[in-house]
Amino acid sequence: METTYSLAKQNIQISNTESNSAQGLMSPTTFRIAQIENNTNCNWRCWFCQNAHYDVPKTQHMDLEFFRHILREIRSVYTPRELNVISFSVYNEPTLDPTFKEKLQIMTDMGFSYWFLSNGSGMTKELVDFLIDYPQNIYDVRLNIPTMDEEDWKATTGTTVKMMYKQYYELCYFFERTDRLNFPITVMVNGDGSDSHKKTFLSVYEKFKRFNNIQLSMTGLVDRAEMLKGVKTDKQSMPHSSVDYKGKKLACGMNYFNNLYFGIDGNVYFCCHDYFQKYSFGSVNDKPLKELIESDERAIQMARFNDDFCSKCTQAIIV
Ligand SMILES: C[S@@+](CC[C@H](N)C(=O)[O-])C[C@H]1O[C@@H](n2cnc3c(N)ncnc32)[C@H](O)[C@@H]1O
Ligand code: SF4
Ligand code: SF4
Repeated sequence: METTYSLAKQNIQISNTESNSAQGLMSPTTFRIAQIENNTNCNWRCWFCQNAHYDVPKTQHMDLEFFRHILREIRSVYTPRELNVISFSVYNEPTLDPTFKEKLQIMTDMGFSYWFLSNGSGMTKELVDFLIDYPQNIYDVRLNIPTMDEEDWKATTGTTVKMMYKQYYELCYFFERTDRLNFPITVMVNGDGSDSHKKTFLSVYEKFKRFNNIQLSMTGLVDRAEMLKGVKTDKQSMPHSSVDYKGKKLACGMNYFNNLYFGIDGNVYFCCHDYFQKYSFGSVNDKPLKELIESDERAIQMARFNDDFCSKCTQAIIV
């Protein structure tokens, strides 16, 4: 008989709902999204994230008028059929933005749908009650909870065990109310696929299995075009396979070139792996989005990005 542990050993996703449609975040997107950096700060330092290994930006959040401006710019180029899903998740924790709820309401009012990626630390009773009382257009909630083990917590997330318990009780409040919420929820346990990852996954599963309608998913990691090459904890290490596609014409296997990535100042760039947003082709603060998308500068930066960055990425495809 299959046990949950044997399923995890075979890398089969385990779910406590009957049909499991959850996919790892690193599956190619089949629809176009816009990622908007609503705030720049994160309260965690996950071992598998650039935030733990590079300088972090100073804390800023986007004001509501500029946020509205970006959404209007998106609508001036793409119809709702072409682009309707917005994510905030760069290398930040979106719920730390003091205007997070207002931004949700603005997106809902304009007909956009929000892809809610979060470490779950901001899922307070207040936010959950807000989502029940004022239902928002939320496409999907995916929580990055890479462990619930006291011993591993600090090395995995860079925060205190006290924070883990605070978050656990708040998540229980959230998960107890799934029948009053209008979106699916997945808990993603990121890791390297090793036995240690599988055990961690099962311990998170044990903590949350009593809740109905929550997907639990064992998800893999990428080294983000080698920016995370060689990073590890005492139990897990970043998977790596070397690629050198320099000089080759490349396409993105994740379809990221279909997406739009907006930095906090409205700068537009190509891919979420570009931690420092170095390959920007201008800002919607200066020019209409349509002009930026059609500009020579975009083509020039894209060729540079392909050659310098995608050439080290395992998600690139030679065309
Ligand atoms: C960078 S985080 C920002 C949002 C939020 N702080 C969070 O952790 O969900 C966006 C997504 O990237 C995922 N992620 C972070 N590092 C990753 C890596 N090296 N490989 C694959 N996914 C990763 C997280 O699990 C999360 O779903
Ligand atoms: S993965 Fe998310 S929670 Fe973890 S450090 Fe990065 S941005 Fe923060
Ligand atoms: S670095 Fe390039 S190939 Fe890799 S995910 Fe980003 S856009 Fe795609």
